[in-house]
Amino acid sequence: MTIISFQTERLRLREWQDSDLPAFAALNADPAVMTYFPAVLNRAESDALADRIRQLMQQQGWGFWAVEIKGGASFIGFVGLAISGDDLPCSPCVEIGWRLAAEFWGQGYASEAAHGVLDLAFNTLNLAEVVSFTAEINQASRRVMERIGMRFSGETFDHPRLPVGHPLRKHVLYRSTVLSSR
Ligand SMILES: CC(C)(COP(=O)(O)OP(=O)(O)OC[C@H]1O[C@@H](n2cnc3c(N)ncnc32)[C@H](O)[C@@H]1OP(=O)(O)O)[C@@H](O)C(=O)NCCC(=O)NCCS
Repeated sequence: MTIISFQTERLRLREWQDSDLPAFAALNADPAVMTYFPAVLNRAESDALADRIRQLMQQQGWGFWAVEIKGGASFIGFVGLAISGDDLPCSPCVEIGWRLAAEFWGQGYASEAAHGVLDLAFNTLNLAEVVSFTAEINQASRRVMERIGMRFSGETFDHPRLPVGHPLRKHVLYRSTVLSSR
């Protein structure tokens, strides 16, 4: 399957390369990046996650793209699409998600990449809807959702893979069916 790659104003969203793996491991080992996940990842866990992401991209032609800055850092994290697990209230659904290294926060990169991904989802992949969800307390991620025009659907759910009482268990679901202008 040919893997789609595309650009936004400042960014390139592309297929993963082996040379991305050290920077990916560094961000997955950063407690700040992983605040809203159950645990940081070690190198082997990070590489295994990259492998899964790359396999899905090979199968579908799309997925969680590696993001690079044009004329700048060759890998700052990922932004893209995934078919959500079938145990979520929105299933079957395609989610948009993101994870950037902390040194690249606060510059609008996640929102710019995510807007490009939504454009592709609606206008190239012809998806009818894209969802996004995160721990209720993950305000930075919720702001990205809102900045790209997604709206909180009012639906919350307990993440099935987190134990009862876990502070990250309550999730909020955002939905979008149209591309908003930037
Ligand atoms: C979620 C995450 C990608 C958001 O990063 P972010 O830097 O806040 O988001 P953006 O890259 O879109 O940048 C937006 C911020 O940059 C500012 N900004 C600066 N220049 C900008 C520009 N040219 N365009 C837009 N925003 C700009 C905005 O004001 C905004 O700051 P604010 O939220 O304090 O108002 C980041 O926190 C992250 O990777 N977290 C860890 C992983 C994670 O939790 N993922 C989600 C799991 S569901």
